Amino acid sequence: MSDERTAVTTDEDEALAVTDQEPRQSDPRVGDGPGISVAGPAQGSRDGAQQETVVFEASGVNVHYGTNLALKGVDIPIYRREITALIGPSGCGKSTFLRCLNRTNDLIPGAAVSGDLTFHGEDMYAPDIDAVDLRRRVGMVFQKPNPFPKSIRENLAFGMKVNGLKANDDAIERVLRRAALWDEVKDKLGDDAYALSGGQQQRLCIARAIAVEPEVILMDEPCSALDPISTLAIEDLMRELREQYTIVIVTHNMQQAARVSDRTAFFTVEQPGDGSRYGILAEHDHTEKMFRAPEDQRTQDYITGRFG
Ligand SMILES: Nc1ncnc2c1ncn2[C@@H]1O[C@H](COP(=O)(O)OP(=O)(O)OP(=O)(O)O)[C@@H](O)[C@H]1O
Ligand SMILES: [Mg+2]
Repeated sequence: MSDERTAVTTDEDEALAVTDQEPRQSDPRVGDGPGISVAGPAQGSRDGAQQETVVFEASGVNVHYGTNLALKGVDIPIYRREITALIGPSGCGKSTFLRCLNRTNDLIPGAAVSGDLTFHGEDMYAPDIDAVDLRRRVGMVFQKPNPFPKSIRENLAFGMKVNGLKANDDAIERVLRRAALWDEVKDKLGDDAYALSGGQQQRLCIARAIAVEPEVILMDEPCSALDPISTLAIEDLMRELREQYTIVIVTHNMQQAARVSDRTAFFTVEQPGDGSRYGILAEHDHTEKMFRAPEDQRTQDYITGRFG
């Protein structure tokens, strides 16, 4: 990464954030408006229950697309085995930031990341970092389910084999059970993945991400193409996966952020008046605090539906 560096603010609060990406399509289901109920960190707060380990640490992260600054000065730690929700209006850079976390911005012509970003304390953008290996360790699930045009089994086995993992029946079953899909597909593993419902396809995509044994799963609006029942199934799955994985999810659904995440990062768009326009991270904190008593007026306006 370049040498642009800004002060690190990590000690003052233990927030985090996340992002995502795929074709641009916003999902303005923000209509939840005021009175969003915060379930609190699902299955009880983890505060104090385990040591907080920082997985990612962003310090002064900027992203340009060509000459356009898209995201400016993001400082945020992301903690192990937590769900971090990235929220904010369309175009504020959530997907852009999410892609920084597994270097998939590298695959976008003209995209340039600067600032400091570490994964387990190591510079993710150092020349000796193998981005392909990094992407195995930091998997990604997109907005629209995108299974391969192959059988259910092949969707999982392919990545497992490529990564030198056994893809036998036991391994396939284990992965499908972990993705809460086994009971629905155990009798049709040879069927085309496209024959599954949208919600099942998305769980298959999550299974595919899990199959290569990542540590982190990035999800970019993973439920925006799903019905409410499938959405709840994915949320249940996320809570289970949190026991083992670090999850960063981008969502436009405030209720979802409040229901599933441990911490929330609110991104917004800054327009300094000189014609420029870029995303910033306005605030990040424990989800309960963000929804009950945010420090920043912009967060308050957004979560209560007063924004835009
Ligand atoms: N591949 C790209 N090439 C050029 N500009 C891009 C690209 N992807 C994103 N941008 C720009 O970067 C800014 C942030 O976009 P990004 O997709 O990260 O926002 P977002 O918060 O994920 O929005 P949404 O909620 O609509 O998905 C926007 O101004 C967008 O136009
Ligand atoms: Mg996006």
